[in-house]
Amino acid sequence: MTAKMKAIIHTKYGTPYVLQLADVEKPTPRADEVLVKVVATAVNQADNHLLSGMLRFSSGLLKPKHPILGSDIAGRVTAVGPNVTQFQVGDAVFGDLSGQGRGGFAGYVAVPETAVAAKPANITFAQAAAVPMTAVTALQGLRDKGQIQAGQKVLINGASGGVGTFAVQIAKALGAEATAVVSTQKMNMARSLGADHVIDYTQEDFSQNGQQYDLIFDTVGNRSVAEYRRALTPQGVFVTSAFLMGLVLQKPWRAITGGQKMSNMMARPNKADLLFLAEMLKAGQITPVIDTCYPLSEAAHALRYLGEGHAKGKVIIMMPE
Ligand SMILES: NC(=O)c1ccc[n+]([C@@H]2O[C@H](COP(=O)([O-])OP(=O)(O)OC[C@H]3O[C@@H](n4cnc5c(N)ncnc54)[C@H](OP(=O)(O)O)[C@@H]3O)[C@@H](O)[C@H]2O)c1
Repeated sequence: MTAKMKAIIHTKYGTPYVLQLADVEKPTPRADEVLVKVVATAVNQADNHLLSGMLRFSSGLLKPKHPILGSDIAGRVTAVGPNVTQFQVGDAVFGDLSGQGRGGFAGYVAVPETAVAAKPANITFAQAAAVPMTAVTALQGLRDKGQIQAGQKVLINGASGGVGTFAVQIAKALGAEATAVVSTQKMNMARSLGADHVIDYTQEDFSQNGQQYDLIFDTVGNRSVAEYRRALTPQGVFVTSAFLMGLVLQKPWRAITGGQKMSNMMARPNKADLLFLAEMLKAGQITPVIDTCYPLSEAAHALRYLGEGHAKGKVIIMMPE
């Protein structure tokens, strides 16, 4: 008889309420894979996009190719394939499975050893699950696309969500002067993350207040290209993790005028960045912010809550003991 495990599955596209708690076959690791007993998994906006069918050209035209969502995991290795060299049974790991077909909303997942890193001992499994997708996005947006430099004035629009809470901390750790744009109730949290200046977007419009920034890292996409430009220095850089159609349309014009650089970004999960973030976590330079932890059976509520777009840090799903 094959071993079973609990998982949250979706066999059709729709709202979070098409999700079902089911008993499914426990995976067996291939030669280069580790089997991870998932302790915690984070919910990402990408899970909602996949669930809705918005990405059906890649996720399956008529029905989902991969019935188990969930990219970010933290857990313990319970078995290893014969070619695995970096991990052994009992190791605590964390990682992003978005390049591996996902599968995190489950008791166990088999993943290539290259997709996970050792969990820093000073953080919990819930905190570790909060890191991979959104912290890598913040890191790549600021450091790689944004070319952040110490001493620069950096504005983070949408600083209170999954990506934004990491972006503020990473910008500070990399020596920038950080301005966080958040709603009223999240101003104290933004200060506690290290923001030098906090703008309450319900009271002040950063694109109209006359301030200019060397780098704007945006996670909301709620302004026009012209408004973002106005808040950038003449040679400033703008990067958004929330897709901005206006940037695609304005590309030829931008090439002619030079000066400011503006781009959409797509994060690329990779082990080097996960290890970089693990060092920052160990050094206490970044600390994951967790909004709520839901049990696996309430995964639909977790996805619906995140989908409302006002989470304070990350939304986590905890596996049953
Ligand atoms: N390109 C990539 O590779 C990539 C990777 C990860 C995520 N993403 C995308 O990046 C975006 C952010 O992701 P996330 O995980 O951080 O989402 P999230 O956790 O839902 O956070 C969104 C945040 O935006 C804030 N917000 C809403 N309206 C705002 C406004 N007018 N001004 C400033 N802040 C506002 C909300 O705070 P309040 O409650 O205070 O409004 C909330 O904290 C999403 O579109 C996601 O799909 C892209």
